[in-house]
Amino acid sequence: MKALVLAGGSGTRLRPFSHSLPKQLIPIANKPVLEHVLGNIRDLGITDIGVIVGDRAGDIVNAIGDGTRFGAWVTYISQPEPLGLAHCVRLARDFLADDDFVMYLGDNMLPDGVADIAREFMATRPAAQVVVHKVSDPESYGVAELAPDGAVERLVEKPKEPSSDLALIGVYFFTPAVHTAVAAIEPSDRGELEITDAIQWLVESGHDVRAREYTGYWKDTGRVDDVLECNRRLLDGLRPAVLGQVDDASVLTGQVVVEAGARVIRSRIEGPAIIGAGSLVEDSHVGRYTSIARDCELRQASIRSSIVLESATITMLHDVCDSLIGRSASVGSPDGGAGHRLIVGDHTRVEVAA
Ligand code: TTP
Repeated sequence: MKALVLAGGSGTRLRPFSHSLPKQLIPIANKPVLEHVLGNIRDLGITDIGVIVGDRAGDIVNAIGDGTRFGAWVTYISQPEPLGLAHCVRLARDFLADDDFVMYLGDNMLPDGVADIAREFMATRPAAQVVVHKVSDPESYGVAELAPDGAVERLVEKPKEPSSDLALIGVYFFTPAVHTAVAAIEPSDRGELEITDAIQWLVESGHDVRAREYTGYWKDTGRVDDVLECNRRLLDGLRPAVLGQVDDASVLTGQVVVEAGARVIRSRIEGPAIIGAGSLVEDSHVGRYTSIARDCELRQASIRSSIVLESATITMLHDVCDSLIGRSASVGSPDGGAGHRLIVGDHTRVEVAA
């Protein structure tokens, strides 16, 4: 069995970050989403992994390499334009050959793993097995209508009057039967080859298509608020470890990780929180549910429920919350100047309380 991970796409919902960083590399609990994904696939015992990459291929290759770090072997497959999930399957035809495979969206987090669902697929081998999750707003998703025995009868994209609350989430299991389906379908109204159309084609052609419910925590990390929520969720399971320096004037409470080479000086860290390798936190307060990446600097700052990406600095600024701060960004008033001086990039959002 192989895996196909989709790490291309446009990431428009995650601007401005996706202007400079593929969204699959946004860190959750200081680890890129894609690393969480590859870890989950490795847990299924799959070591032959194809990764679809788009125009930010270089960043993904730099971060993941040949996969040996994850105990796997990664083959990169280039997608010149994001023409849809089924287009990715078409492009991966040679890599997949005649093997069964799991297709995994590279921005989806399923921290509770899909081992049971994978086992069932391997034992029963329906043409396709989709993974569904109960949602409160099925009208925002593709939903599966099921027969009592779990067979998929119909897939409906964003139904206005949903007859099912089981949304398709970012993991699909396929036998090679899917290749005929992706070759048969036409682009949708939005110009993409939709995987839901390919699966519906299998259903209508009389193939066995099954659904299995994933009941654990699931998050599509496509938007900033989803990234922050997922970070909070993962930090809840943090195991404390202090590998860096914490001076006597600092106080750590709750589950706190201070990575190697980080320094905490005259500061309070309230876990769950992570201070990344090589970062400096001085005269500051890091509140619950905060992940600070590597090589950041916080001076006279307070922050909570946020993610700070690598090499960012926050200086003389209090009450930063629910924020995602980009790589090498500088926030605060380092020179103690009056007024708010904003140098804000494209598609950036700044919310300042009066
Ligand atoms: P989406 O989040 O559905 O699409 P997107 O990345 O274009 O994002 P947005 O809607 O914000 O513009 O994609 C799900 C996953 O599949 C994600 O990891 C990107 C990947 N993908 C591809 O690799 N190729 C594609 O053609 C598409 C559409 C997505």
